[in-house]
Amino acid sequence: MTTTILAANWKMHLSPSEARAFLDTFLPLYEPTSGQEVWLFPSAVALEAVANATADRTDIVVGAQNVHWEPGGAFTGELSVTMAAEAGARAALVGHSERRHVFGETDAETGKKIRALLSGGMRPVLCVGEKLEEREAGQTAAVVQRQLSVLDGLDAQSLGQIVVAYEPVWAIGTGRTASADDAATVHRAIRDRIADYGVTATDIPVLYGGSVKPANARAFLQEPEIDGVLVGGASLDPVSWSEICRSRVD
Ligand code: PGA
Repeated sequence: MTTTILAANWKMHLSPSEARAFLDTFLPLYEPTSGQEVWLFPSAVALEAVANATADRTDIVVGAQNVHWEPGGAFTGELSVTMAAEAGARAALVGHSERRHVFGETDAETGKKIRALLSGGMRPVLCVGEKLEEREAGQTAAVVQRQLSVLDGLDAQSLGQIVVAYEPVWAIGTGRTASADDAATVHRAIRDRIADYGVTATDIPVLYGGSVKPANARAFLQEPEIDGVLVGGASLDPVSWSEICRSRVD
């Protein structure tokens, strides 16, 4: 059985002092729970504060929201894998819909970031998902397959480090969610694609994201195809986040 991953994407919220205050409330509310891990993706400047405050919690993984693929150089505003790792990151989001659709990140760049992360010993969380017009045009499977093709050519050991997050773009920050059934259908297609690489698809966690809240988290987490959730808005409040983190077992 794969470990359930409860991932919080804080986006451009929670400064270092706000992140520390969040953890002061969250950590006493959420005890380590067998079979699941909490992954926190703070802003780059809060990485170190979050890593320090959670250093004694082996069930908590800290990750960067974005990295550059080059090891260093004249790339104003960017963060290298080594810098993120030194600040305490063990994972990073790649290809989040805001990176793709607000900042124009391409599949080719996503692929380079994944390879840089793997070389640096960090776990990439590859986000995939279709826009509303793509869904309405029946293109969901094709879009997701194309976004997954950045994994082509990775060896089995590297594939074993990957986490995939299915986040339909129309469900992110909108209050609309895919039904657990709809999400499960796409998750199955993702696993079929991964199985083409000759690895056991169930070894790669596939998370669902898009307007997950305390009220609906359980429905997603109970679906056998869904190995965890990636949460934006509802992860910013420590009480709501602790409810989501407890919803599989409560
Ligand atoms: P949301 O964001 O939970 O606010 O919809 C999810 C995400 O962007 O990862």
